[in-house]
Amino acid sequence: MPTASALTQLLKAVEPLAPDMSIADVADRLLTPQHKAFLSLPIVDSAGKPLGLVSRTALQDIFMQRFGRDLRGRHPVTEIMNAQPLVVSLATSLEEAARQITGQLQYPITEDFVLVDQAGHYQGLGTVLDLLKAMESRIAQRNTVLRKALHDLKESQAQLIQSEKMASLGQMVAGVAHELNTPLGYVKNNVQLMNELGAALFELTDAQARLADCMANPDTTEEQLADAFALAAQAREAAAPELLSADMQQLFADTMYGLEQIAELVVGLKDFARLDRAMSEEVDINDCIRSALLIARNNTKDKAEISLHLGQLPLIACAPSQINQVLLNLLNNAVHAIEGFGQVVIKSWADEDAVFISLQDSGKGMEAHVVARIFDPFFTTKPVGQGTGLGLSICFKIVQDHGGLIRVASEPGRGTRFLIRLPRPQAAQLQRSA
Ligand SMILES: Nc1ncnc2c1ncn2[C@@H]1O[C@H](COP(=O)(O)OP(=O)(O)O)[C@@H](O)[C@H]1O
Ligand SMILES: [Mg+2]
Repeated sequence: MPTASALTQLLKAVEPLAPDMSIADVADRLLTPQHKAFLSLPIVDSAGKPLGLVSRTALQDIFMQRFGRDLRGRHPVTEIMNAQPLVVSLATSLEEAARQITGQLQYPITEDFVLVDQAGHYQGLGTVLDLLKAMESRIAQRNTVLRKALHDLKESQAQLIQSEKMASLGQMVAGVAHELNTPLGYVKNNVQLMNELGAALFELTDAQARLADCMANPDTTEEQLADAFALAAQAREAAAPELLSADMQQLFADTMYGLEQIAELVVGLKDFARLDRAMSEEVDINDCIRSALLIARNNTKDKAEISLHLGQLPLIACAPSQINQVLLNLLNNAVHAIEGFGQVVIKSWADEDAVFISLQDSGKGMEAHVVARIFDPFFTTKPVGQGTGLGLSICFKIVQDHGGLIRVASEPGRGTRFLIRLPRPQAAQLQRSA
């Protein structure tokens, strides 16, 4: 027993006709309620091999002619049959059957097809319309499956993007914490020192106050006065106020500088995240560059000298936190590619239609086959735990979402340059309306 294929569901048990039947007999047969669903009927030989199909339209042609039925109805049906029926093997899949039939079909939807077993014997008649319906419902089923797969894929992509974001955020936070630590350390030291120096000053004022009390008191003995003088002189020597004043000023200035650095980092961090403003109308991309540099400073300072060539830029509409993420990714990749100490050159400029950012490193560069794959998700040449392979695919997506382009040029041993183009929609719109 052959397993029931989808085609067997389309198989209609039609009583096949013999080749020597008359046209009139066949016409009567085609008109019976049992056969009304068919546009054609199969003719088979005595061994059950299909010889052809008689189509309803060929019969109609004859019967539409006046007297046609009387004159020609008596002729054998083989005169008007299609001698090459569409033959499909029962073992064929629905898709393959649809492919074969649409490939052979000469008069679309006018012909049904004959189903044969492996030995080529007639097994039944299929109708093209049923086949189309079956294909349609199968496609609808597939579409549902595909839609679900697409939805799942989008969801896991969103999760991946989030986790890469969290990973780079983690890296960034570690870097910033490190950056904050240095000024925080010396601010703390300075305050401690000022506290110690201040203590000597307080002792001096204390000793001087006691001396003044002694001098003002008429009962003070010579001995007591001499003691008070000696103590005040000692305290004065210990505190050394003439030196202290310069030291204190220096300490205050240093402390102030440290606090400013801390404040700058905190503001930078706030600018960088900008979670409150997802999409903003007026962003100066140079601010994004400075912000990313500040945040990445801990990762870059021992790896590369960074030269900035920032041109005058028009404000553009973009999501600054996303652009920051792109820049941070590119910067981190650049310093990863540098062995020892190297250079990173960042440029920005604009023309009438777009803002451009170029980031060039003197790192190890890439072979062409690597360049071809860098924007693929999960493509990484870094060891497990160091690279996720998601950074550039996310950059690509973000730039694409902004209607922009990201391009790369790289040469092994010489370095890599990324170029980003972000359109100025306002300019484009103005041009169009003009
Ligand atoms: N500036 C660069 N210089 C050399 N190779 C780079 C540079 N940027 C990216 N690459 C290559 O592209 C790969 C993919 O980068 P990315 O998508 O950021 O993932 P990851 O950094 O996690 O490996 C890297 O593993 C590296 O091989
Ligand atoms: Mg990366």
